[in-house]
Amino acid sequence: MKFYLASRNKGKMRELTEILTPLGMELEPLPEDFPEIEENGTTFAENAKIKAQTVCDALGAPAIADDSGLEVEALNGEPGVHSVRWAGPGLTDHDRNVLLLERMRSVPETERGAKFVCVAACVFPSGKALTVRGECRGTILDEERGTGGFGYDPIFCVPEYSCTFGELEPEVKNSISHRARAFTALGSALRAYLEATGEE
Ligand code: IMP
Repeated sequence: MKFYLASRNKGKMRELTEILTPLGMELEPLPEDFPEIEENGTTFAENAKIKAQTVCDALGAPAIADDSGLEVEALNGEPGVHSVRWAGPGLTDHDRNVLLLERMRSVPETERGAKFVCVAACVFPSGKALTVRGECRGTILDEERGTGGFGYDPIFCVPEYSCTFGELEPEVKNSISHRARAFTALGSALRAYLEATGEE
């Protein structure tokens, strides 16, 4: 069965293709002229479903989307669902990291817990929708470390590896990340659903 991926992110396409191909599922990129989708949900799950539903409705075929972000305990879950726009327009990833570190300046080491969250959704033309969630727990450092990855990676430390997402080899990050966990769970959920309904 073919699924459109409601994203223009090549990294996501590659990661999800690696997970779904062995399960007999094929991913299609969005047509070049597909319009920008407005993400106006208030949760990761709402946004993932909005994106998948929009593509499914427009193209009449099953569609997959994800939405992700960083939730910091000491900031009551911020940047959260607003991760990409957090702290205002026109900022770089580095600017956002500096601001986040500034907001965390007086937070003690024991209270610097955070998690990356990813919700992946698949919507079928029948109206059936599957959503799954992946999380990766860590802590917020007091400075940036590492130049790999993107976004909040340089300030997010993974305890099992004692280093940041920005310092980890991409293959390692991609095997333990919130997105890898959500996509793996989506692969299992899709396989179970397709087997139960006899669809291919
Ligand atoms: P999106 O769901 O891919 O649009 O991600 C939203 C935002 O969450 C990104 O622009 C980043 O700020 C943040 N984010 C999501 N996943 C990651 C990650 O793996 N590393 C660092 N930042 C991330």
